[in-house]
Amino acid sequence: MAKLHPDLENKEFWYKDITLIPNRLPDFERDGVDLTTNFTKRIILKTPFVSAPMDTVTEAEMAILMALMGGIGVIHYNFLTIDEQIQEVEKVKRFGAGFVFNPVVLSPLNTIRDVYNINEKCGFFSCPITEDGTLSSKLMGIVTHRDVRYRNDMGTKLKEIMTPREKLIVAEKKDTVNKNDLEAANKILKEKNLDTLPIIDEKERVVALVTDSDMRKNEQFPLATKNENKQLRVFIAAESRIELAKERIKKAFEAEVDGIIIDASVVFKEQLEIAKWVKENFPNLEVVLGNVDSAQMVEKIIKEGPQYCDALRVGIGPGAACITQQELGTGRAQASAVLDCALAAKKLEPKYGFMPVIADGGIKILDEIGRDVQKPGDITKALALGAQTVMMGGLLAGLDESPGEKEFDYGESRMVKIYRGMGSLAAMEKRGAFRYGIEKAKIKVPEGKVIRVPYRGSGYDFLPNLIAGVKQSLQKQGFRNIKELQEGADIRPI
Ligand code: XMP
Repeated sequence: MAKLHPDLENKEFWYKDITLIPNRLPDFERDGVDLTTNFTKRIILKTPFVSAPMDTVTEAEMAILMALMGGIGVIHYNFLTIDEQIQEVEKVKRFGAGFVFNPVVLSPLNTIRDVYNINEKCGFFSCPITEDGTLSSKLMGIVTHRDVRYRNDMGTKLKEIMTPREKLIVAEKKDTVNKNDLEAANKILKEKNLDTLPIIDEKERVVALVTDSDMRKNEQFPLATKNENKQLRVFIAAESRIELAKERIKKAFEAEVDGIIIDASVVFKEQLEIAKWVKENFPNLEVVLGNVDSAQMVEKIIKEGPQYCDALRVGIGPGAACITQQELGTGRAQASAVLDCALAAKKLEPKYGFMPVIADGGIKILDEIGRDVQKPGDITKALALGAQTVMMGGLLAGLDESPGEKEFDYGESRMVKIYRGMGSLAAMEKRGAFRYGIEKAKIKVPEGKVIRVPYRGSGYDFLPNLIAGVKQSLQKQGFRNIKELQEGADIRPI
């Protein structure tokens, strides 16, 4: 483990209270730093960033950004219905996939309006046309963006405008999907200069699609977090209430989610029951439990069921929109919480196996005029203290990809976005109260507030800078990767 200065032992400290002393002579470039890490036991990220399951932070757009940048997004559950959350998962899964299985299809009698409706809901135009508009009937043609982009005649039937089967280039399932050979399909796309390539079986039924835009997206983001089928990975959060969680998790599994964060401000015992149910029914889903903030909590969870938990989320009340510590007098300085939990997990590793730690919340610092600014250094500190990844809310809420519109704050003369704690009264009007175990209570004591965070523009510009900052911080200290940082960091009080 890292070297902790004796003055820090038995003290409570935040990220701002410590510094990492460089005492090596680095002999490599910043790009020589590799940030590859475990998000969960089985899911590896090339960037140690996770976006928080909060309704002003992570829906599909943020989850896509995070996964393309090598991190991962966790979709919140503060929607009115479970299906609304699942639709966000589907949007991520459909984005830039390799083979798009279960593609949306239409019939020759559908109209141009139906194609526009699909674009609004799912974000794409290309649709194979089949005899009866389902995947069980024969392919009749295809409609792509090119066919509809200048059309105003919304009522025209697709049979009038589709490229018919006899003019279509298709690939056979046996040559592509059966061999899991995406390259073969992409080669046809390139050589024939196609937008979309349908893949059919021996009965002429569509089994998958491959698209040019997906192929280019896959080439453009080399760090992207993907499954074996080149689909972006995504997690959802679920309530710590078993009956509700069961329904949500079943639907999320069908939408091919990669894992579940069972969400609560303080880990409930019921979480273990849910985790066990998930592992018994869907062994391929990864399960994250939390939140915890002490070695005792970590030990209890790991000893009760190491096989039911794939990562622990650490942090009680350190978040930018949290008021738990001020209001309820409970919670913990985040740097101490991360260190204590990571040490406990490490101690139990020889007997119970590896347990990744997610440092959740508190990645922010005030600059000299009192504004929130991003500091990659806080992230490096969390990693040095033993976290494998860092979960962020407030830092990402100001990006274009978070839900909600930017607005002008006349008082501060700057653009801002609204960021709200899930324990704020506003968020608890929907499902936020589940996180605090008070959904049935008449009196709701808020544990979060609504704040404004600086508007930070596009995440596609912001995150590469943040990644470069973390790499530079490791390079300065002479560490090539997170493991070296965790073994060699020299942590001292400021
Ligand atoms: P940051 O600092 O990145 O923190 O904005 C994000 C994390 O804050 C937690 N969270 C809350 N904690 N009351 C709390 O005590 C709240 O209302 C609240 N909302 C979110 C959550 O763990 C998130 O990942």
